[in-house]
Amino acid sequence: MTQDKLKQAVAISAIEYVIDGEIIGVGTGSTANFFIDELGKIKHRIKGAVASSEATAARLAGHGIPVFDLNEVSEIAVYIDGADEINAAGHMIKGGGAALTREKIVASVSKQFVCIADGSKLVETLGKFPLPVEVLPMARNAVMRQLAALGGQPKVRTKAGSDEIFVTDNGGNIIDVAGLAITDPVALESRINQMVGVVAVGLFAARGANVCLLGTPDGVRTVK
Ligand code: 5RP
Repeated sequence: MTQDKLKQAVAISAIEYVIDGEIIGVGTGSTANFFIDELGKIKHRIKGAVASSEATAARLAGHGIPVFDLNEVSEIAVYIDGADEINAAGHMIKGGGAALTREKIVASVSKQFVCIADGSKLVETLGKFPLPVEVLPMARNAVMRQLAALGGQPKVRTKAGSDEIFVTDNGGNIIDVAGLAITDPVALESRINQMVGVVAVGLFAARGANVCLLGTPDGVRTVK
C-alpha cells in the first residue's frame, strides 16, 4: 500500500468525526487535502469550515464548502489535521507545510483535535523531523542563536529549489531545528514560545491530539 493510499484511508475514516450542522476546522498538507476531498462529498451535512492556510481555504472553496473567517466563529466542534510526527500521548510536531501558526490557532478553539496520519508518523520520541518555528523576519537570527543554545541545529527554510527565504501566509519565516531529542514536549513548547520574535512553534503538546487515526497496511488504527 502506498503512503498516499494510507493517507486517503485515514481521511475517509475521519469523516466519522465530522458533526452534522457544524463548522469544521481543517488542517493543511497532503493528508488534509485527502480529507477535504472527502468532506466535499458530504458538504451538504456541514455548515462550513475554518481553514488553517490559504491553500486549504482555496481547496475547500473549490469543493463549494463555505469558508468562515475564525473571527466569525466562537467555537469549533472538531479540528482535523495531519502531523509530521506524533507520539503515543498525542503530542505532535507540525509545520512541515509551514501552516503551524494558523493550525495552532484553529486547534486552540476546537473542542476535539483529530490527527490523521500514515503509520510512519508515530514515533517514540519527537525530534527526528526538524522542528519548525515561525518567526518574525527581523528576529530570525536572534531566535536562531537561542535555538542553537538549546542544542539544535537551526536552519532558515528556503523556497523549494531556491536560496530565497520562504515566507508564510502570515508574512513570517520558518526556522527548522534539527537534532533535538524532545523528551519533554510541553516544557520545550513553553520555552520556545517565550523567545521574543517567535510567532509559534510547531510543537503541539500543551494542546495535543485527542484522537489519532493512523493508516497501516492492516487498516486504520485509532490511538486515543
Ligand atoms: C502543515 C502540517 C502538516 O499537517 C504536516 O506537515 C503533515 O503533512 P502531510 O499530511 O503532507 O504529511 O503541519 O503545516
